[in-house]
Amino acid sequence: MKIVHLSAECYPVAKVGGLADVVGALPRYLNKQSANASVVMPKYANEWVSEHEFETVLSGSAPLGHWQFDYRIQRETADTLGFPLYVIDIPGRFDRPGVYTDEESGGSYWDDFERFASFQIVALDWFNRMEEKPEIIHCHDHHTALVPFMITQSYRYMDLKHIPTVLTVHNAEYHGVYDKEKAYLLPHFDERDMGLLDWDGRLNCLAAGLKTCWEITTVSHSYMNELAYNSNGLEWLFQNETQKSRGIINGIDTDVWDPETDPMIAEHYSQRKMAAGKRENKRVLCDRFGLDPQYPTISFIGRLVHEKGADMLPDLFRTYLESPQSVNFIVLGTGDRSLHHQFQAMSDRFVGYFDATLDYNESLAHQIYAGSDFMIMPSRVEPCGLNQMYSMRYGTVPIVRNIGGLKDTVVDIGTSDGYGITFNDFTLHAAQDAVQRAIDLFQDGRKMAGIRKRIMNLDFSWNASAKEYINMYKQLSE
Ligand code: GLC
Repeated sequence: MKIVHLSAECYPVAKVGGLADVVGALPRYLNKQSANASVVMPKYANEWVSEHEFETVLSGSAPLGHWQFDYRIQRETADTLGFPLYVIDIPGRFDRPGVYTDEESGGSYWDDFERFASFQIVALDWFNRMEEKPEIIHCHDHHTALVPFMITQSYRYMDLKHIPTVLTVHNAEYHGVYDKEKAYLLPHFDERDMGLLDWDGRLNCLAAGLKTCWEITTVSHSYMNELAYNSNGLEWLFQNETQKSRGIINGIDTDVWDPETDPMIAEHYSQRKMAAGKRENKRVLCDRFGLDPQYPTISFIGRLVHEKGADMLPDLFRTYLESPQSVNFIVLGTGDRSLHHQFQAMSDRFVGYFDATLDYNESLAHQIYAGSDFMIMPSRVEPCGLNQMYSMRYGTVPIVRNIGGLKDTVVDIGTSDGYGITFNDFTLHAAQDAVQRAIDLFQDGRKMAGIRKRIMNLDFSWNASAKEYINMYKQLSE
């Protein structure tokens, strides 16, 4: 079955968040189950792209409103990812290093709509010309959510109308909202259908995709339920579309995330050699950050944004840093500038107990998973969350808020077969309580070791979820 994934991100080509990890792994696992899945994404001007070779499969020009623009579709020659990777080169639109934001100013690009609309138009023009057309078009998030709209509404794509489209919502906080005038940049459609693009009087790409795709998926069961009452204004739409919606939990790429072979960590370890392996990785990690390895190490990795509850961390950590209790904390991530300042000030003030790397650093992330005792995720919203699964694979106990995918993957140690620490309310008090339970668990060496072994053994690989996707594709193409 020929499945094409359209996405703005794909690890390791270009990554901002978990979307990249999913798109970089799922197609490979689909192909292991004898699908024929590939990825189509924009060609950014970044390091990965410049270090890899591409061959052109098609070049041409396409319309964006009254304008014509040139494009090239290229395939990565060496096929390094385990699936064919196609990049769409649109000079003037994507030949910049950032995916969504300008690295220097930190702001979004002024022509976001034009960028992703052009990308989607080229992809559809290409499918139009293909002899063997895709059997499923799988879109991810709002950057590719106009594809289901254009396929069903634009006269230009009439020949593609019968192809089932899937739209996966990785994050419903972002919709891609623009002025309605932008609709005239899309290939011609019946103006009476303008309402399909509309939500609250504006052009809303995610809403348009949700209304017109064949199937909506999101990345966990709990998040699917939550969207109906918490999706940044789209609640009613999600409620209305439940018939064609389902939650499929993400997996993790266990080839990349494997403490036995991970080239980015200090010492390899298996579940059997867990104690020695964790000890050595922790020693190296604490050394790097100037922390004392005899205390429990609690880390946070992720974007420093409201959604992830990162704004709660300074107060939460200070509760412990200002008391005689001995515990240390590590933060890795970028985001909100005021949080950068706060973490910077805390690193200066609590030397030996707190440190932060305010950057995106993939290999340091691996070292933190391997060397920490606990990983904290106090998210306000968490569609799936991958970090808790990476942590567990590395024997690091998750402390998570009971929400979305976190709720579906972490069972509290308070229940008979539990293996993580969870809390319900988004309050400082509830989070403090959870951290305290982590510290207490750490004091109980035997229990802690048992849980570590247990979580390293859990299966979060893509195998089961890839099967669910295949079943869904089959149902759609019947
Ligand atoms: C987004 C979500 C995260 C999810 C990821 C992959 O980044 O915020 O929860 O794990 O997408 O689906």
